[in-house]
Parts: sequence; structure tokens; C-alpha cells
Amino acid sequence: MKSQLLEILAVSAFSILTVSTSVAKTPVYKDSKAPIEQRVEDLLSQMTMEEKLGQLSQINSFNDPKWNVVLYQNIKDGKIGSIINEVNGKRIDSLQRMAVKQSRLGIPVLFGRDVIHGYKTIFPIPLGQAATFDPEVIAAGAHAAAVESSSDGIRWTFSPMVDISRDPRWGRIAESAGEDPYLASVVGSAMIKGYQGANLSDATSIAACAKHFFGYGASEGGRDYNSTFIPERTMRNVYLPPFESAVKAGAATFMTSFNDNDGIPASANHHILTDILRGEWGFKGFVVSDWSSITEMINHGFCSDAKDAACKSANAGVDMDMVSGCYLKYLPELVNEGKVPMSVVDNAVRNVLRIKFQLGLFEHPFISTPQTVKYSAENLAAAKQSAEESVIMLKNEGDVLPLTSGVTTLAVVGPLANAPYEQMGTWTFDGEKSHTVTPLNAIKSMFGKNLNIIYEPALAYSRDNSTEGIAKAVDAAKRADVVLAFVGEEAILSGEAHCLASLNLVGAQSQLISALAATGKPVVTVVMAGRPLTIGKQLDESKAMLYCFHPGTMGGEAIADILFGKASPSGKTPVTFPKSTGQIPIYYCHNNTGRPANRTETLIDKIPVEAGQTSLGCTSFLLDDGFDPLVPFGFGLSYGKFSYSGITLDKSTYSAGDVIHASVTLANAGSHDATEVAQLYIRDKVGSVTRPVKELKAFRRVALKAGESTRVDFELPVSDLAFYGIDMKRTVEPGDFTLWIGTDSNASLSASFSVK
Ligand code: BGC
Repeated sequence: MKSQLLEILAVSAFSILTVSTSVAKTPVYKDSKAPIEQRVEDLLSQMTMEEKLGQLSQINSFNDPKWNVVLYQNIKDGKIGSIINEVNGKRIDSLQRMAVKQSRLGIPVLFGRDVIHGYKTIFPIPLGQAATFDPEVIAAGAHAAAVESSSDGIRWTFSPMVDISRDPRWGRIAESAGEDPYLASVVGSAMIKGYQGANLSDATSIAACAKHFFGYGASEGGRDYNSTFIPERTMRNVYLPPFESAVKAGAATFMTSFNDNDGIPASANHHILTDILRGEWGFKGFVVSDWSSITEMINHGFCSDAKDAACKSANAGVDMDMVSGCYLKYLPELVNEGKVPMSVVDNAVRNVLRIKFQLGLFEHPFISTPQTVKYSAENLAAAKQSAEESVIMLKNEGDVLPLTSGVTTLAVVGPLANAPYEQMGTWTFDGEKSHTVTPLNAIKSMFGKNLNIIYEPALAYSRDNSTEGIAKAVDAAKRADVVLAFVGEEAILSGEAHCLASLNLVGAQSQLISALAATGKPVVTVVMAGRPLTIGKQLDESKAMLYCFHPGTMGGEAIADILFGKASPSGKTPVTFPKSTGQIPIYYCHNNTGRPANRTETLIDKIPVEAGQTSLGCTSFLLDDGFDPLVPFGFGLSYGKFSYSGITLDKSTYSAGDVIHASVTLANAGSHDATEVAQLYIRDKVGSVTRPVKELKAFRRVALKAGESTRVDFELPVSDLAFYGIDMKRTVEPGDFTLWIGTDSNASLSASFSVK
């Protein structure tokens, strides 16, 4: 990549630009009071072809002397619109000075970076943030990331990823908001608001990038970059809603995905990039390709060479080429040959410039925030709250948690108890493990005073296959009142291109938990991972289990607070946990078959030998794993004891344009103050096409003191029941509906209504 770009940029670096210097004294584009569209047109009208293509090209940052000569010259020549992966604030500032002060038109460079779940202060991985079901906390996390990264001159992040992810084998599920279109829409929009702030032009706001457009999460077999087969209706009903919400939330940019869907690579998909994104949704920002995804269309067998790829991509609606260099190199010829209309290039430049103006880059191109914003007390507190709310309690037999004062000796074991790097999770380019608070350290410093803590990691890291250390951990368990076992995945086992065929605990972790359980001591298992793992066996063997998608810098304190009852768990699964990989894909809002499972099926061990075959009474299930998942979507226990009753609707029949007022009584009969995520699901009973058995339509986090109860009200516009039916138009189809409100996607308390 580096040599290819060097070559492309070096060829033109020293060619003398003989351009007109008749720039007006106070050009409109430099007038901060002029309307942005006028500024864009004014600037565009003064740009050479090379300068235009510069705006459409993003290069990767390398800092070496040979490269710098080329880089500096190209910046001064106005041929670089954006740089990815430069994080040294001083260098960013000096490169920006070259662009602004030494290039002919002074167009600032847009510096971008994958600030995915925090810049320095690391928040839970996005899947963990989704588990909070808390848009405010999610927005606060994105805001903290924006404040920290903009203090180094980074004004563009490649986040949020709103790919619907229904396959935990796919490593990038970690970066997603999970399986549900509604939840992903809420999470994505909250992140966009957090990054972009009230005003994109604020010095601490950064441009968001909704990615990967589209379908990437449906990679066949859970293998990254793989083909997808998403038909138009499913695309519109399931995969596109979070992207449309991103446009509504004001996302400044979009990124194409690597996959081809039904034979069309995303970076050349005119239908989605132009017809839908711009035509139907009115998107005014710019679209960047994914890393070399334009030239990768040669590998796809969709383009004959890089020139063909540049041609198809530009014409489809990709405005900026991420690092392949093909726009810079081939667009001049393609325009001359009439294969890419000049209007396509001009529109792409407009889209990029518009965002640069909106970011206020022309007014304040240089860094203005102090460095002290990094790891500020405020950001660490926000990261702790996010981590705390992201913890999902999957089991708590006999209320073994929270740990009480009766526990005097605690065995802390497992490879994730003190793994500061691993708990930050995937996509933490800039977070430093020296700032991470691990569970072991947090427990020691926060609760260790009156506690005898025996720490025995047993395994050096999650994949460690050596069982040698297990005996020591067992010995520690025998001497303790309670065992805390921290297991899971290292950060590198999830994320881009880190997909798995098996989702069982890696290394000797399974043996470790079994050995601990065999001591008879209560085992509390804390899983830190980048995805749902098939942890049925460990759930059985543990008295309690906390599931934490890699929780980030402050994960240790957050977990410690929950273990010792300073906070009650409130996270909910943003994705269904399968029993086995064989159950995948498994998600709650599936369509019904004509022969739905009834849970009385005869499973494999009960089938008589030489049983006769029949199709009578048969249903849709797996002989070995039945029908239900290990953990349903939306599930999460609490120290509160929540119950739902008295569901009411304000009417029984609604018309289009109405708002449904649904409410329920939520009571906390437990002895702990706690927060519950009340979830509202609907089912459209009969449609012009089959409809999911349940769809999440709203949720609310409700804090209740011990013994308290309240009415929880929901307002659901009837228009939210719309979907793309048989005629592929988004409509609310009249008919009967069921509405549930409850603690997870298995909610059973329901009411019925009709839409006329
Ligand atoms: C990923 C994107 C990321 C980009 C830039 C690609 O490999 O798919 O999500 O933003 O790299 O780092």
C-alpha cells in the first residue's frame, strides 16, 4: 500500500503547477458568514482538477524522511484531502499549517482515525455499550472520545458501526450494536450525537461515519469480508434502518463495506449509495470507501483493473477513496474519456468540502484544546458508568451476589482478572493499558481492606492450554469463601478478520472452571469477551455469572462495584447467545415457520432406536439443541426483583397518525435499589409478507428503589409499525397486533390492538 501511494503521489509531487493565481482578495469561501453552499461553490469554481482529486483522496500516514518529502509537497500542492492514522498532535498541527498556509487555496486537511470506543479513555466495546440500553451514556462516551481525539487534531472518526450482526463467529460483532435494527438505530444515533455535539463546528466535535454501508454483518459463515445475500425487502426492513437513522441523526459521513451483496460490491452499488442514500434519504455528507475497498473489486472479479474500479466506484457514489490512490491516478483519464462525468467529480468534491466547512476547519484548523482532557476525571467517570451499565448478570443462584460481609477470603482466579490490555477489547489503537483498572486491582483497592484475597491466575492468557496452574487455583478456591473466576477472550480474538468457528472458551479455561466448581465452593464467573460465547457448561457450573463485553479502562472498578453491591447490574443482552455454533444464525425477531417449535419435541437422546420416519406433527428445531437459545435477546438479571403487571393501552383500535400509549406497572420487590430496562415488543399478526414473531419498538431504563413500584409509560407512533411489504413500499398495514412489555424478548405480559 505504501509503495503504491508513494509512486502515485511522487509522480505528480514535483510537477510545477501552472495555475492561475487570480484568487479574489476576500474570496467568498473564506467568509465564515457566507452560507456554506455558497462557500462550497466559490471554492469549487477556483479548484484545478488536481486539487479536486486531492479532496477525494485519503492517504495513510507514514512518518519517514523519504515519504515526508513527498507528503509535504503534495500537501502544499493541495493534493491531499484527508489523512488517516496520524495521531501525533504536533505533527497534525504542522501538516495542517502546510495545507492552510502554504497551499494555493488553503483548504484544510481532514484527519481521521478509528476512534471506535474511546480514544485514550477506553469505553466498553460497542457491543457492551449497546448492552446498556442507555442512549445518554452512549452519547456521553462518544462525546468523551471526541473531546480527547480532537485535542490531537483528529476531527473525524470511523464510527459508529451499525451493521446488524447476527453471527457471533464474525469477529466484528464486537464493534456492532448487535442483532436488532431498532437497538442499533438508537445506539448509532446516540454515538453520532455524542461525536458531533450540538454543533459540528465546535472545536471538540468530530465528524461521525456510519459504516459499513451495507450488509457487512451478514458475511456468509461468519467469515470476515465474505459475500452476503440480502434481498431488497430484508435489506430495507432489517439492515438499512440503522443507516437511515444515522442520516436523521446528522451523520456527516458514511463508509462503504467490503462485501458484495448478491454479486454487487458495496463500493460500486449505485442503488444504495445514490438512489437510496442520496435520493430517498437526502444525505448531504460524503461517502468514503473502506480501506482499498475500491481496488479490492478487482479481487471480487467485478472490475478488470484499478481504473475500472475507480470508474465504477465514482459513478456509483463513493466520494472519497480511502488509501488506494486510484482516484488520484485514474479519474483525470476517466473524465477525459467521458467515462466519469465531470459533474460526478464536482459533486463528490462539494460533499467533502461541505463537511469541512461544517466542521469549522476553515475557521479553526489548528488544535485549540488542552491535552489535559485525556483521561480526565470526567471521562474516567463516564467510562466507569458505561462499563457498569454494560455488565449483564446471566445467573445469580441463591443470591450469591452481591458479596456480603460474610465473605472474608476471596479467591480471584483466571487469565482475565488482571489483564489490563485485554479488557480494553478490539479497536483500541490509542488507549494505554497503564491507565486500565483491572478487576483484581479494583477489588484490592476498593474492597480489599477487610478481605483476604488470594490471587491465582491459573492460566497466563485466555488461550493458554497449560493446565499446570489449575491446581494452585483449586487450592486457593478451597481456602476461600467464594471464587471469582475471570475468563473469556483476549482482545485480539475478536474484531476485524478475527472470526471463529468455535465459540467455546479457549485454552484450558473450561477445565479451570470445572475444577473450581468441583471444589464445591461457590464460583462466580465473570466473562470478558468480544462476543457471546457458548458458555452453557460454565453457566451450569457457576453459581453466578456476569457477562462483560470487553469493558475498557474502568472495567475493573465497574465490575467490583457490582460484585460488592455498590451498584446493581442493569445490562441486557444486545444479541442472542446461542447454545452452540450450530444454532447460528439465531435471533429473536425471526419469522415464524409453518411448523413452529412447541418445546415438546423429542430430542436426540430420547429417540427410540429404529424409530420410524414421519412428517406428521414435525416442527422446526434441532435434534441436539432444540429451538431456544442459551440466553435470549434483551436478557439481564438484577439485584432488584422486578415484576410487571397491569398492562394497558389507551385504545383498542388506532388509525395511521395516532400514537399508542401503552403502560405497565413495574415493581421492585427486592431489597436493593436497582435499574430495569423495560422493553416493548410488538407482533404484526398477519402481513402482506411474513412478519417477525417479535420486534423491539421501544425501551426505557427505570430506576426503582427497593420496594418501590411505578407506572412505566410508552408512546409508540403507529407510523413505527410500518415495514416494506409485498409492494416494497413502507406502509403500516391495517390488522391485528400483539404488544408485550417485559424484562426481555421472552416477555409474556401482552395486550392486543388493531390498526384500521
Ligand atoms: C475497516 C474500517 C476502518 C478502516 C480504517 C478497515 O479495514 O473495515 O472499519 O474504519 O479499516 O482503519
